[in-house]
Amino acid sequence: MNELKSKRHILVTSALPYANGSIHLGHLVEYIQTDIWVRFQKMQGHECIYVCADDAHGTPIMLRAQNEGITPEELIARTDLEHRADFADFGIGFDNFHSTHSDENRELAEYIYKGLRDGGHIAVRTIKQAYDPEKEMFLPDRFIKGECPRCGAAEQYGDSCEVCGATYSPTELKNAVSAVSGATPVEKESEHFFFKLGDFEPMLREWTQGNHTQPEISHKLDEWFESGLQDWDISRDAPYFGFEIPDAPGKYFYVWLDAPIGYMASFRNLCNKREDLDFDTWWNRDSDCEVYHFIGKDIAYFHTLFWPAMLSGAGFRTPTAVFCHGFLTVNGQKMSKSRGTFIKARSYLDQLNPEYLRYYYAAKLSKGIEDLDLNLEDFQLRINSDLVGKVVNIASRCAGFIYKRFDGQLSGDCTEPELYAHFAEARTQIAQLYEQREFSHAIREIMALADQANQYIDANKPWVLAKEEGKEQQVQAVCSMGLNLFRALIGFLKPVLPKMAEQAEAFLNIEALLWEDIATPLTNHTINKFKPLMTRVESEKVDAMIEASKEHLQENTQPIKSAPQSKIEPIAAEIEFDDFAKLDLRIARIVKAEHVKGADKLLQLTLDLGDETRNVFAGIKSAYQPEDLQGKLTVMVANLKPRKMRFGISEGMVLAAGPGGKDLWILEPHDGAQPGMRVK
Ligand code: 2FM
Ligand code: ZN
Repeated sequence: MNELKSKRHILVTSALPYANGSIHLGHLVEYIQTDIWVRFQKMQGHECIYVCADDAHGTPIMLRAQNEGITPEELIARTDLEHRADFADFGIGFDNFHSTHSDENRELAEYIYKGLRDGGHIAVRTIKQAYDPEKEMFLPDRFIKGECPRCGAAEQYGDSCEVCGATYSPTELKNAVSAVSGATPVEKESEHFFFKLGDFEPMLREWTQGNHTQPEISHKLDEWFESGLQDWDISRDAPYFGFEIPDAPGKYFYVWLDAPIGYMASFRNLCNKREDLDFDTWWNRDSDCEVYHFIGKDIAYFHTLFWPAMLSGAGFRTPTAVFCHGFLTVNGQKMSKSRGTFIKARSYLDQLNPEYLRYYYAAKLSKGIEDLDLNLEDFQLRINSDLVGKVVNIASRCAGFIYKRFDGQLSGDCTEPELYAHFAEARTQIAQLYEQREFSHAIREIMALADQANQYIDANKPWVLAKEEGKEQQVQAVCSMGLNLFRALIGFLKPVLPKMAEQAEAFLNIEALLWEDIATPLTNHTINKFKPLMTRVESEKVDAMIEASKEHLQENTQPIKSAPQSKIEPIAAEIEFDDFAKLDLRIARIVKAEHVKGADKLLQLTLDLGDETRNVFAGIKSAYQPEDLQGKLTVMVANLKPRKMRFGISEGMVLAAGPGGKDLWILEPHDGAQPGMRVK
């Protein structure tokens, strides 16, 4: 790491959010983590530039726009506004927010591609792929559905079976259909462009040994090298929403090719607006500037292999470091729409102060890649006790006396120089912790100081002194000291709580705090009237946020942050009413439920339909224990053609709802339903 003292030039990015979905609390782990780090660097006096953009290309965005009857440009313009507002309201202080669907990105993508092509790193090969003859488009794996070639489970995606866990190629699916049109896909050949990643193995091996990744990711990289670096398919056929490849009409860059280039494009866009920034100074091969990418651990492959290789092949500098983080869980579980824990940024903002979340995430983030849990009860306790109970409380206990009795005037000298020196000296350690992204440790240190400040006030009791005669000066001294300790704490917390820091600066009547300002206390200085800086978290608001998030159940079709784009749920094809009317839905009683030997996800159910018994294999083991199901009534498709599966014949299908995993519920009819009844 560079010396903190000399001025550094640092470019920082967060992963680009897809332009077809809302920002949610999972995304915010990364933006908050990055923003804290950037604000910390700025407070140090370094030049630190934070850029981001919307990731606007790809099949899901094209289809989503079609589905809504708008152009992709209209969809991305609408999302751009929504994303910008969400980020601004969470205090994410981008220096620039742009789009991958921009002139800068097109130029840079073409430039990088041509550099790779002219360097001999692009291969052209003809490959066979599934093609939707009705929609006249090639189908990404996730847009093909059919029966699993291994266990026969219906409605499985083209790359893997969610019932038995098999992975396969879409051509192996039985009775495959296009999830876009419902047509049967055919195989079709087309020419594709491949980036020869293997050409860069020596360069990448060297790069990965240079401390540019966290240890966990370095191990992963070793595994990837072991299993061999494969050529990467960087082209897609029309129709596709993206940039056409130079000299290759009808061929487009795959969204992941131009997405990371979007970091550079956003920076270039900023350079075009600011005279003091020169693109080449930051991106040339020998640049002294630093470049950091904050990302989720699921997209490490793109950022630690493809991206440095692309940059190097095109003659640019490589990243100084790629920082990965883990995923968000809420109350110990995956975010769930049905539980109301899949919370959009806006649903949170409608109820709660964004700085609560910034603080809570900071209090839990470290430099590692482990997942972070937002426990809503702990969230409430922590904010109320740390921020309201400890930090803000210091100011509210001291400010009134100074303002009313001394015209807002602080003492002429520092009453407890040793105590203040202790706070001032903490600058070094806390700065190191921020620098290393050990935010939770930094917060622990800051709260230990807040405890000491409160102890100082408790021990000196200005409210008692104020009632005693001749103690005026002491009251002023103690309260001035308390406010100086408060100011130091605000300085330490400023990267995490920029809004509260701004309000505190106004109250203290000071310029925007820099890290070094903490070294010296305020003396002979006049403060303004104190206004409460933060209120307690109210349970009703948290509950209202959860309730509102439950209501989003139908609307939200986007994947949990950082699921690769190919995993976006395809939109199910429309069916005719007659098709629907063909379903014979009936109430069934589960008389027996058992584990199936050798099946990861299936349970074997014996269903009583009133006048007959059926054997059905259902992929609901992740959500139910057999004993929990026995005796329950459920809804089944009774006229599904019996299917031979590896474990026996399945005679129907049980209906369940939910995103999967633990969040899967069999449909349970109301009381009064009887086995055999038809469901209308
Ligand atoms: O995983 C995602 O959400 C991608 N949109 C991230 C892209 S990051 C960068 F490469 F652009
Ligand atoms: Zn299967």
